[in-house]
Amino acid sequence: MLKNLTLEKKITNQIPIIDIGKLQSNETQDLEEIADNFIKAYSTVGFSYIVNHNIDQRIIDDIFIASKEFHSLPRKEKQKIELNHLHRGFIPINSSTEPNSDLANTIIPNQSESFIMMRDAQKDDLEVINNTYLAGPNIWPENVIHFKERTVRYAEAMTELCAKLTSIIAKGIGITRPEFISLFEVPTIWLRLLYYPSQSQSSYDNTFGSAPHRDFGGITILSQDQIGGLQVKTRSGEWLDAPEIPGTFVVNVGNMLHRLSNGFLMSTPHRVINKSNKERYSCPFFFDPNVNATIKPLGNHVNKENPAKFNPMIYGDYLKNELSTTYNQHKN
Ligand SMILES: [Fe+2]
Repeated sequence: MLKNLTLEKKITNQIPIIDIGKLQSNETQDLEEIADNFIKAYSTVGFSYIVNHNIDQRIIDDIFIASKEFHSLPRKEKQKIELNHLHRGFIPINSSTEPNSDLANTIIPNQSESFIMMRDAQKDDLEVINNTYLAGPNIWPENVIHFKERTVRYAEAMTELCAKLTSIIAKGIGITRPEFISLFEVPTIWLRLLYYPSQSQSSYDNTFGSAPHRDFGGITILSQDQIGGLQVKTRSGEWLDAPEIPGTFVVNVGNMLHRLSNGFLMSTPHRVINKSNKERYSCPFFFDPNVNATIKPLGNHVNKENPAKFNPMIYGDYLKNELSTTYNQHKN
């Protein structure tokens, strides 16, 4: 009994580090081992770090350079590409709140600024021709050298990594290959370059860099600097620090993968409070289902004994609701 309690305490109070070095292996056993570790982490703690991810450090260094150069532009320059109805561009400070949050009384807007890019679709792309929700071109700042090249390269590397990871997790929970393809073959992707100014000490109680929230979609991979400030809510309700660990990314599961797994994989609340007296930069990448995908419980965790806990819904409909309550650009 004592042994089990100790193990449980250890699992719920630590964010595990998962070695994904064998992700490119052709051996089923290697991939199953990685999937098992993920499934264990997301059915207990709900967060993990990944190590041996095989992303070139220069690509990671470059995305932080791009972010810092963008955020150091004069405000007037950044405002030229302020967030549009396709959810691309610059989000100024004090412009987004989390009114849907069941996690905190968030009246004060997030104390952060960011640049967002998604998949680039030009007007002759089928997605644009079909008027697909959020399909369209990215918008770029002028006068930031190599910015587009650096962000696109990072987004491509992350898309590839997320696709592979999500496919083995999906297989691990019994989602079939055709189901996976219809959900994630054309994923909704978002790269967000976030800048958090240092918060004043008096604001820690009710003001957040990012207010407590769960992510929308599939999986999130976060690259963060050494400043710290990310916290993860444990099952017992305490906020656990998730500092930068060199050579790793932080990974979490979003609400859609939670639903697809019939609640088995946890979409864990997290928040950012920048108490460092320094500026913080982080680069989350979100890998989500296609906007037209139907999200309903699938796989091993929905059956006669364990019926579906969620009604089917279209991911784009869910997104519309979330984005329209958070951002003015989506109000109509
Ligand atoms: Fe998040």
